[in-house]
Amino acid sequence: MDEKAPQHSHLILVGLMGTGKSTIGRRIAHQLGREFFDTDDEVCRASGSSVREIFEQKGEEYFRQLEHESLARAVATERFLVIAAAGGCILRADNRQLMSRSSHVVWLNASVSVLYDRVETRSSEFTGHRPLLDENPESKLQAMFESRSELYRQVATITIDVDGLDISEIIALILEATNLEHTS
Ligand code: S3P
Repeated sequence: MDEKAPQHSHLILVGLMGTGKSTIGRRIAHQLGREFFDTDDEVCRASGSSVREIFEQKGEEYFRQLEHESLARAVATERFLVIAAAGGCILRADNRQLMSRSSHVVWLNASVSVLYDRVETRSSEFTGHRPLLDENPESKLQAMFESRSELYRQVATITIDVDGLDISEIIALILEATNLEHTS
């Protein structure tokens, strides 16, 4: 926890696909009067292609490079942003290094069963920009949970276990843990 951390920092949200980074990030940004930055949206804007098109036409490694450039642009922004870092951002060490410069990196940690329920109930909306979940989504999510949790843990200054919480409860916990509600 980092209640005493300086307030002058981006607020970065990390976590697996479907943990609510974009929805929560957009709302917190609105509440704090900050701009919201979504690394996936920036990849699409900069490349003129969708995430799915990039994966299908150029492959994952190419996507990861665009993702890295997107994150680098976000953290280099002078204004303090709320950044939703797409689920795979923590895979590259240079991205973890970029994130470590921010004092507020929030890991939204959800169980695989909760994430998988979201895949099932909101299928096309959920998987549109998530080609990695096209086949065997439950086992893919399980494998990602196992291989990535330690990396999320490494970059996080705050961990929120989101299972069973609604969006406003999660936002309240983030604002309390970062002490941002009283400063922005
Ligand atoms: C990915 C997460 C997705 C998107 C792409 C790959 C990942 O973003 O970047 O499908 O590897 O975890 P969200 O985390 O915003 O869903």
